[in-house]
Amino acid sequence: MPFPIKEVRATYPALADGYAYLDGAAGTQTPRPVIDAIATAYRTGIGNAGGAFPASHRSDAIVAACRAAVADLVGGQPGGVILGPNMTTLTYRLSRALAGPGDEVVLSRLDHDANVRPWTQTGATVRWAEVDPVTGELPVEQYAGLINERTRVVAVTAASNILGTRPNVAAIAELAHRAGALVYVDGVHATPHGPVDMRALGADFYATSAYKWSGPHVGAVVADPALLETIRPDKLASSPDTVPERFETGTLPFADLDGVTAAVDHLAAMVPGQGSRRERLLASMAAAEEHELGLFAALIEGLETMPHVTLYGKPARRTATAYFNVAGHTPRQVAEHLARQHVNVWNGHNYAWELTGVLGIRDSGGAVRAGLVHYNDRSDVDRLLEGVARLG
Ligand SMILES: Cc1ncc(COP(=O)(O)O)c(C=O)c1O
Repeated sequence: MPFPIKEVRATYPALADGYAYLDGAAGTQTPRPVIDAIATAYRTGIGNAGGAFPASHRSDAIVAACRAAVADLVGGQPGGVILGPNMTTLTYRLSRALAGPGDEVVLSRLDHDANVRPWTQTGATVRWAEVDPVTGELPVEQYAGLINERTRVVAVTAASNILGTRPNVAAIAELAHRAGALVYVDGVHATPHGPVDMRALGADFYATSAYKWSGPHVGAVVADPALLETIRPDKLASSPDTVPERFETGTLPFADLDGVTAAVDHLAAMVPGQGSRRERLLASMAAAEEHELGLFAALIEGLETMPHVTLYGKPARRTATAYFNVAGHTPRQVAEHLARQHVNVWNGHNYAWELTGVLGIRDSGGAVRAGLVHYNDRSDVDRLLEGVARLG
């Protein structure tokens, strides 16, 4: 069955403004059920968690439902879903509890800085996994020489947010686990682009952000609750000491969490299906991935035929994310030109700090990123290609 792109697009009110939204890698638009869920939560009345009255019970139920939804999305357990403002904040928090001076951590130059700097700033000794600057691949073989018995954490992305590279995380995790290290996977860019199974990836921690997959600005890190029981983060004396609550500082955004659940339900329902929500998510996200990669083939083919375009990376397994420069124009000028044609793209290093350094373009303004998500269609791709062609 073809991906029901018209129906999917119709659920996103923002898409009606006529822009081609190719900026999804920096945050997706929001479908109606998510907007409605958040508004309904506020309208119905919500209290702080743990109280004796119904409005508080509603917040407790929202949190529980949200943990179950995120667990379904990534293949984790609800009791191991840590919720918070965004991936960066949660990663800073966890990194402090997981590593420190005397430990070693293995980081990759493929990663978004949110899975790099929190670890370098723990004071642990850093060992770097390098990226092939031509292909944009992260070769697995190097990890055997980087991991040893002092390695506490191997932090690696499930997909690059600029090149789309999907490294072989499972193979990296196997090497890490053999040495007794923990694997912290940044799933922020990968999660919206296909089915996720954090256990198959070998992720001890899987980080994701709902605003990249049609939800509100909420982050989550998912781990085995039994593992979380062994970790003691900094926390207030008065806050719960239970798992996963002890990893969550302050009050959660209850209405937004209801939006997160609605976003997961929305993703699960993009294509008609049966079975549990987890099963429907796997089928729906597989269909979305096929849809995105089909469009992406046309996008890449179009850019490749333009002599004035330089494309970065050619990884074998990738998300539908293109990163390119246009001769004679800065990335910002290209983005401004495309904005005038009502095409949204990003320009800059996009926080892929190490990777844009490897590519030698960090100091010259990075490049242009055009990313596809499930709600993009062929006309979005054509409009991008027409806009870039005009710069030749
Ligand atoms: C791959 C990747 N990791 C981490 C982040 C940071 O996520 P957050 O904004 O939730 O902190 C981003 C955001 O763009 C990202 O693309």
